[in-house]
Amino acid sequence: MAVVTLGAHIVDVLARPVTEIPPGQDTVVVERIRVTAAGAAAGTAVALAKLGNEVVSVGAIGDDELGDLLVAVMSRHGVDVSGLVRRTADQTAASILPIRPDGGRPSFHAPGANLTLSPGAVEPGLLTAADVVHLGGPDVTFGLNDPAFFAMLSAARDAGTVITMDLLSGMPDLILGARAFLPLVDYFLPNLEQAQAMTGETDAEQAAYSLLVQGPKAVVVTMGAEGSLLVDAGGTRRIPALEVEVVDTTGCGDAYCAGFITGLVHGKEALECARWGAATASIVAQGLGSDAGLTDLGAVLALLGEPEEK
Ligand SMILES: Nc1ncnc2c1ncn2[C@@H]1O[C@H](COP(=O)(O)OP(=O)(O)OP(=O)(O)O)[C@@H](O)[C@H]1O
Ligand SMILES: [Mg+2]
Repeated sequence: MAVVTLGAHIVDVLARPVTEIPPGQDTVVVERIRVTAAGAAAGTAVALAKLGNEVVSVGAIGDDELGDLLVAVMSRHGVDVSGLVRRTADQTAASILPIRPDGGRPSFHAPGANLTLSPGAVEPGLLTAADVVHLGGPDVTFGLNDPAFFAMLSAARDAGTVITMDLLSGMPDLILGARAFLPLVDYFLPNLEQAQAMTGETDAEQAAYSLLVQGPKAVVVTMGAEGSLLVDAGGTRRIPALEVEVVDTTGCGDAYCAGFITGLVHGKEALECARWGAATASIVAQGLGSDAGLTDLGAVLALLGEPEEK
């Protein structure tokens, strides 16, 4: 099996366009409402599956209707959900996102079962058998910050598994907890706000270098419409965002990770992986929801003017 996504699983309910919460009991008619499988593990898993990867997702969700929905949506897109554990005491994590006409995305979020994920949920041998393990949001699944889990990651790396990592939150206290994972990560892909919170550096390049010396082979800092920055032993490279008409940027970071990881699975160098990430994210930015408009790898490569991989 190729990729294991491990971490945050969230049901996103999105509506667009929303300019304000109406007063009293008023109803506002919107153009579109969608439900997606989102979060740094589940959202990335769906995008990875659409890009043609075999994906197993590991996480904790509730034994509730939202959980049933998440399982159905992920399965519909071809993700193997056998790694999901169901909790009775906690709800499935969910967000409500009223998307502004300019693509702005305020949110209401219930973290629920994500906070209960622990090493016990990870089937022995699963990580070692994977080509890539993507840690999606260890800042919120902080039960993984545990010697038992670090031992599993370490064994997987010794067996040749590549470890990638992205964060979920914008909360400095949670983000600092994710530093413990850095020595075990090959590719780290935070957004700028997260890279800043993790390092205390304001400059993107400084922040990336400060993260690089803590273990990863490469650090990719994503900066929304400003594109991304790849920093590794080869120096610093800027990858511009593709110019597109933005509808909603929810899940762009997750889509970027999925494109990047797909590049790794295809044996590409980090810079090429970052280009695949940016192109994947630019598709998702043009529609409502974290997987919007994404069909297959061929469409991503066509955007880059590259022939389809065999
Ligand atoms: N407005 C945009 N136009 C084109 N590309 C975009 C836009 N916003 C984001 N992207 C692409 O998506 C990548 C990731 O976006 P961003 O830095 O916003 O991720 P994020 O904050 O982690 O988002 P997420 O909510 O998914 O975690 C960017 O580096 C860029 O390539
Ligand atoms: Mg992100």
